[in-house]
Amino acid sequence: MTLRLLSVTSELHPLIKTGGLADVAGALPLALAQHGVEVRSLLPAYPQVLRAAAQARPKAVHSYKALFGGPAKLLAVKLAGHDLLLLDSPSLFGLREGGPYSELSGHDWPDNWRRFAALSAVAADVAAGAVKGWQADVVHAHDWQAAMTAAYVRHGRAPATPVVLTVHNLAFQGRFDARIFPELGLPAECFSVEGVEYYGGVGFLKAGLQYADSITTVSPTYADEIRTPAFGMGLDGLLRGRGDAVQGIVNGIDSREWDPAADPHLAAPFSARSPGGRVANRRAIEKRFALKRGKGPIFALISRLTWQKGIDLIVDSVEHIVAHGGRLVVLGSGDSAFEGALLGAAHRHRGQIGVITGYDEPLAHLMQGGCDAILIPSRFEPCGLTQLYGLRYGTIPVAARTGGLADTIIDANEAALTAGCATGILHPAGAGDALKAAISRAIALHGTPGIWQAMRRQGMRADFGWDRSSARYAALYRALLDRSPAS
Ligand code: ADP
Ligand code: GLC
Repeated sequence: MTLRLLSVTSELHPLIKTGGLADVAGALPLALAQHGVEVRSLLPAYPQVLRAAAQARPKAVHSYKALFGGPAKLLAVKLAGHDLLLLDSPSLFGLREGGPYSELSGHDWPDNWRRFAALSAVAADVAAGAVKGWQADVVHAHDWQAAMTAAYVRHGRAPATPVVLTVHNLAFQGRFDARIFPELGLPAECFSVEGVEYYGGVGFLKAGLQYADSITTVSPTYADEIRTPAFGMGLDGLLRGRGDAVQGIVNGIDSREWDPAADPHLAAPFSARSPGGRVANRRAIEKRFALKRGKGPIFALISRLTWQKGIDLIVDSVEHIVAHGGRLVVLGSGDSAFEGALLGAAHRHRGQIGVITGYDEPLAHLMQGGCDAILIPSRFEPCGLTQLYGLRYGTIPVAARTGGLADTIIDANEAALTAGCATGILHPAGAGDALKAAISRAIALHGTPGIWQAMRRQGMRADFGWDRSSARYAALYRALLDRSPAS
């Protein structure tokens, strides 16, 4: 039997993306079709989304005279293989100078609480049948931006609809002043420890964790980590209290979009069986980043430049890489101090280090196709996708042993090398010396071509597509529906 799912997200690749959430919200719905799950994705109609949708003729399917301070419409449109519902609210999601969550200065939009409460309230309306002819059986909300969906469903017109909340990153919680509570339109009793109240204010993610029927996060190791004080960011007690309702399901990748044999962004195609095309991609990287030719490995960094991602550790490792014959290419944006430090390193080591700041999807693909190793020294990493793209493209991950990195990379220790199953290099998280030692190990293994090529092949042959994990989500939705009093 077909199950109808409403997916609620603030990003969806290829329409709007700031990170891995968009990749997941863009790929999972497509993979769910094979399991009889029909998905509609609700997301804000940001200007770039509206522009992309215009040619596909969106149709208004619901309207609001006043939604959190302004008129709004729900538009239905089929785009990029997705069945979308776009929340078109000019006052909340219209043209602004900045990103989806923050001003150009990096400060959060002051009305974020209103914008994402609106998205969540509308999700609950859709769950309750606001769009004629379509009723969701289950709702799946992603991250703090959609987490209040669980609260609005519970207190709305279809309170029995099961809600799944996926935590992509516990560090982003959507915390606001208690003064906003009266404007959320929730019953007064919701402002309590069992509801949206969080350390005296309002916590959107916290509310979702409280009200959702099921909580998933994007890897089993991160699911364990967030139940400890060290990784729980204040929510570990609540997560422990939810017991079996919390589980980890590792992310997959869109293996059509990320396929080295048919990737339009590469200089030449290649595959595990015929890796020859990598040479042309390597040359393209050397040219693009103005690197001198060399024998040592080219390390890549493709990342948000933040403390979470351990960028300070990379800045500290630059001299080590160069001194040992390695080269480094960086594509990233974020913290301006990190951007400055990396640009400074490129200036000091012209020809050995290249840095491009900004966001460039095609270049990210080319780097995965042409570099030798990718550095991911995250302090915590719920899942991580760049290591999965690296594995598929033969760019060997050198990564911290945490979260999804620990779940998806097999470290090249003696046992794994002997068994022929190593796919990368893992090191303890958060320590500069450990990263430098891992870089040295990578350079040594790269200098032993037989081993390096075998590791590369092993990674490229592994299947990181969505088949297995989408089956787990589908099974979860069905289990919740079977338990639901409404069914
Ligand atoms: P996170 O979501 O925490 O940023 P992930 O590894 O899950 O980390 O996902 C990051 C995604 O964003 C990947 O698709 C990666 O290729 C992409 N990405 C990160 N920085 C850039 C950039 N500067 N340019 C292009 N793509 C980027
Ligand atoms: C978050 C996490 C990242 C994860 C992504 C998609 O941005 O930081 O680890 O891969 O979400 O789930």
